Amino acid sequence: MGDLFARSGAEKPGPAQRGRAPQTAMSRPIHISGYKRTARDFYATPDWVTEALLRHVQFRGRVWEPCCGAGAITTVMQRQGYDVTSTDIADHGFGAPGVDFLSCKTMPEGCRAIVTNPPYGAARSLEGQEKSAASMLCFVDHALRLAESVQGQAALLVRLQWIAGKRAAALMSAHPFAAAVALTRRIHWFDKHENTNISQHHHAWVVFDHGRPSGQPPALLFSD
Ligand SMILES: C[S@@+](CC[C@H](N)C(=O)[O-])C[C@H]1O[C@@H](n2cnc3c(N)ncnc32)[C@H](O)[C@@H]1O
Repeated sequence: MGDLFARSGAEKPGPAQRGRAPQTAMSRPIHISGYKRTARDFYATPDWVTEALLRHVQFRGRVWEPCCGAGAITTVMQRQGYDVTSTDIADHGFGAPGVDFLSCKTMPEGCRAIVTNPPYGAARSLEGQEKSAASMLCFVDHALRLAESVQGQAALLVRLQWIAGKRAAALMSAHPFAAAVALTRRIHWFDKHENTNISQHHHAWVVFDHGRPSGQPPALLFSD
C-alpha cells in the first residue's frame, strides 16, 4: 500500500472470536445486544445488504473498503464489476491487514469512493466516550474528509437511529448527503442455529456524493 497508509503498531488479532447469542434474540430490549461484541467489532455484512446499496447507487472509479473484514462487501462489489482496494486494521484473511483507517491521511491511489460497514464498537472514542455512536461519528467524519479530498463518494452502513443524533445530523449536513438507503429487513449478523443474531436495530446506508448537483435534496430510498 506504499506510504499512503499508517500501519497499526497493535498486535494483529487472530480470527474473530464470536460471542454466543441467546436463543431469545427477538425478545430483548433494544439497548441490550444480548451477545458479546467480537474483537475489533468484526461482523460480516450479508450480501443482500450490499446488493441493496448497489441497486440504488453507482460508484465512479475504484472503491476503497477500509474495514474489509473477510471481504464480504468487496466480494459483492467485485461481482458487480467494481475494482476495490481492501484494507483492515486486523487480519481477517482478506485484503491488506494492519491499516488503521483513522490514521490514513489520503485515499489509496486511484480510489474515488469509500464503501464500508465500519465498526460500531469503541474503535476509538470522542471525548473519552466508549460509545458506538461516538465511534461511528469518528469513522464517518474521517471517511467524509477523505472522500472530499478527491471530490468523490462515500457510503457507510449505520444504524438508522444514528442519523437522528444531533452530532450525526450536523456532520451529515456539512457534507453532500445524497441518499439514505433504509434496509426494510433487519440484519442477521450471524446465523448459526442457536447462535443466530438478529439485530434489534434497523440499518441504512448513508451515501455522500461530491458529484451530485448542488441544491438537490437527499433521497430516501428503500432496500426492496
Ligand atoms: C463490522 S466489521 C465489517 C467488516 C466488513 N466491512 C464487512 O462488511 O463484512 C468492522 C471491521 O472494521 C475493522 N476495523 C476496526 N477498527 C478499524 C480501524 N481503525 N481501521 C480499519 N479497520 C478497522 C475490524 O477489523 C472489522 O473487520
